[in-house]
Amino acid sequence: MPARPKADIDFANLAFAYQPTDVNVRYTWRDGKWDRGVETDSQTLPLHIAATCVHYGQAVFEGLKVYEAKDGRVLCFRINENAERMAHSAGTLMMEAPPVALFREAVFRVARANQRFIPPHGSGASLYVRPLLIGTGARVGVRPADEYLFLVLVTPVGPYFKQGFTPTKLVVEEEFDRAAPLGVGNAKAAGNYAAGMRATMRAREAGFGEVFYLDAREHKYVDELGAANFFGITADKHYVTPQSVSVLRSITNKSLRTLAPDLGFQVEERAVPAEELESFVEAGACGTAAVITPIESITIRGKQIVYLKDGKPGPHCTALYERLTAIQLGDAEDKYGWTEEIET
Ligand code: PLP
Ligand code: COI
Repeated sequence: MPARPKADIDFANLAFAYQPTDVNVRYTWRDGKWDRGVETDSQTLPLHIAATCVHYGQAVFEGLKVYEAKDGRVLCFRINENAERMAHSAGTLMMEAPPVALFREAVFRVARANQRFIPPHGSGASLYVRPLLIGTGARVGVRPADEYLFLVLVTPVGPYFKQGFTPTKLVVEEEFDRAAPLGVGNAKAAGNYAAGMRATMRAREAGFGEVFYLDAREHKYVDELGAANFFGITADKHYVTPQSVSVLRSITNKSLRTLAPDLGFQVEERAVPAEELESFVEAGACGTAAVITPIESITIRGKQIVYLKDGKPGPHCTALYERLTAIQLGDAEDKYGWTEEIET
């Protein structure tokens, strides 16, 4: 197959940042049904001044990645999981969700239309896909909108944390909570990210990569990072990850829980008391943007727990990272059927 011309971008040195692509796709839900959607090169939205997304936070989103395999095939990873999680998030915020088939169609359509922005295999970058669902109907009383916009944009990205698969330092935040136990922490609601910005900015100013939250009820158990799940590895090779009502159910974490036993880990998904952080030999952050980011240290209540002294990822995070990314990039056998080819 002849190589298709790529956009003039330094793919190998991309940050996790927005840059314009050719097209985004938009579907509208009105009068009880979704329309057929349009492709547009506009990067702005015409929005009613009383739209529920801006006044009352009816906004949820997703994040997934599209990769180019060595043979040029275009692959996406576990897209149905993202579609189902968007439906969960939408239900939580009383919004109309795109059906799974529509979600898939929209992602495939936007990936095809922006093919020249799919980073080349081996560049370390990928095409980040951001499906967004917002209430566009006008309301001044607090109640769900009667119109919704489902938009999917793409942008080529590099690693979320500086320099990619390199360790990052976390700090436990106790002055701000991310999500209440009976709140919307397990939905990918835009407001959760606004709620976390004070803590994240404070952590960054203090030289940390990201905030690590404890459970909001007791500040006794660990929850997750601002934009990724957490796992710890014990000396006897247990992959331990928090079970909590207020964390986002990460698709990356779910995948790692499946892959870990293949690599000789025993998986434990349970409440993880903060004191246990000291017992891990390695720890990692996982998510679509974060992939697996090894945790160098966690500072909690003035004490720094150090996992990596030489600034290099440990062997356990490396093994998990290599297995996961090899499947995502089409370099390893996909025995669980997680990758799907997007016909181009
Ligand atoms: N937790 C939060 C708060 C996130 O924003 C993300 C990112 O999507 C994750 C966890 C990881 O989820 P996933 O692996 O499905 O991307
Ligand atoms: C993702 O990993 O896809 C996310 O949504 C994290 C993000 C908020 C940048």
